[in-house]
Amino acid sequence: MGASNRELDAAWAYHNGTKHSFWSIRHNAHFLDSSIKPLQFKIYTDLPPVELPREVPPLEMPALASIALSGDEPAGAAVPDLRALVQVLYYSAGITKHKKYPGGEILFRAASCTGALYEIELYVVCGDLEDLSAGVYHFNPGDLALRRLRTGDFRRLITSATGEEPVTAEAPVLIICSGTYWRNSWKYQSRTYRHFGWDNGTLLGNLLATAAALGLPARVVMGFVDEPVNDLLALDTTREVAFSIVALGSGSPLQSEPPAIEPLALRTIPLSTREVDYPAMREMHAASSLITTDEARQWRGHTPISEPPSAGELIPLRPADDEFAPSDGLGAVIMRRGSTRRFDRKKTLSFEQFSILLDRSLREISADFVDSAGPHLNEAYLIVHAIEGLAPGAYFLHRDRWMLECLKEGDFRAEAGYLGLEQDLPADACFTVFLVADLPSVLERFGNRGYRAAQLEAGIIGGKMYLAAYAQGFGATGLTFYDDDVIKFFSPHAEGKSAIFYLAFGKAAVNFGF
Ligand SMILES: Cc1cc2nc3c(=O)[nH]c(=O)nc-3n(C[C@H](O)[C@H](O)[C@H](O)COP(=O)(O)O)c2cc1C
Repeated sequence: MGASNRELDAAWAYHNGTKHSFWSIRHNAHFLDSSIKPLQFKIYTDLPPVELPREVPPLEMPALASIALSGDEPAGAAVPDLRALVQVLYYSAGITKHKKYPGGEILFRAASCTGALYEIELYVVCGDLEDLSAGVYHFNPGDLALRRLRTGDFRRLITSATGEEPVTAEAPVLIICSGTYWRNSWKYQSRTYRHFGWDNGTLLGNLLATAAALGLPARVVMGFVDEPVNDLLALDTTREVAFSIVALGSGSPLQSEPPAIEPLALRTIPLSTREVDYPAMREMHAASSLITTDEARQWRGHTPISEPPSAGELIPLRPADDEFAPSDGLGAVIMRRGSTRRFDRKKTLSFEQFSILLDRSLREISADFVDSAGPHLNEAYLIVHAIEGLAPGAYFLHRDRWMLECLKEGDFRAEAGYLGLEQDLPADACFTVFLVADLPSVLERFGNRGYRAAQLEAGIIGGKMYLAAYAQGFGATGLTFYDDDVIKFFSPHAEGKSAIFYLAFGKAAVNFGF
């Protein structure tokens, strides 16, 4: 028997054991064995595809407006049809680009994903929709198809697993996101459990915005008893585990008891001829699992973070209102998003562009681990290099007032690059953002599972930031980082907190992709 959700040593052991440092990078002999690179798709060999509309209609709502919505907004009944469901799945996990290279081809997806390894799978649990019968389905972006794992309405099972989460209880569609360890640990080893949150999060950033653009409410749910959800999807939990749920749509209360869960023996193509096991991730997952519905019920809300007091002069953000901000549609922005591979150090961004990015992507998120209109689990620390009218330096964003506090002025290009594992991207960018969490408070409130939520929330914000950059015609990339050095750089302000996510923004160098 492993640690329980309340035995917080487990989360600390995982977190501390997967930190990057100048020395850990130099002493890790890991190399990428291309002969066992995992397959990017989960392919069921014996399930026929469900016929889906081949055309995925564009999303016209301006991207900046859609990412600013929380997911709660539309009131009243909203039940997606199959076309809307396919839009939601495609614009969050679909293949948007193909790139050939001498050894083969990479298929890029709608949301950024560490190493382009795509370890997050999507499953749909729905009641009867206009043109899709009730069931449990797997989504394969490879052939843009759903495959039915089970027939019948199983939503009630998920609602009970969440301890009767009210939005879930009314949702016509539940999308379950799972993480497959080996897909990502092939490259990132045990640190992959953090990547589950990051990559699931960027995907949900797209998904929430897409739902908003379609007028569908959407809520992220992380408080659920794990076992019945994994059983419903027939997951081999030594390899793949449910990580988050999105309740999509509303006005479809559940009546019936779900059919019994029969075990399924579904064959899938092996990801590679051999897999390497990293037990630390499975231990972290087990120690952050919920066992009883009472635990799930107690999980919701009561975010433990309070805004720190400010010292010195505060600088207000100046975001333009929607009518004066770029209005490119969400679909087009998602299609052109990609990670910038080189930034042009000579370029600058305006203070308005910078303000719009922070303002639109850091608004409320409809999720069961944050209170509406309350603080997020993550706070934004920034390094500014080239924003017109803002002195280069290190900043903290007071999100409650949308004001910046300057922590220290100076040219920190070298430091930004060093903190991002000595890469050029954050040194050449116009600015970088660290999402940082007060983990002791988060874990105290939510138990080990708070670690999952902190990573996922940072990914959602990061995903929205990517879209906010591309909506305004500049570039972005996620980054990995030297954990403790980040906190040292922003201390004393950040003392006791933990770095969760790192991004860089700027203008792409010409002839270097996005
Ligand atoms: C959390 C996160 C961390 C990332 N870290 C790095 C990094 O350290 N260096 C880098 O060059 N790219 C990094 N990336 C970019 C990914 O490699 C990129 O998203 C992936 O190759 C897919 O390509 P796309 O974003 O263009 O679709 C990161 C992306 C994410 C989401």
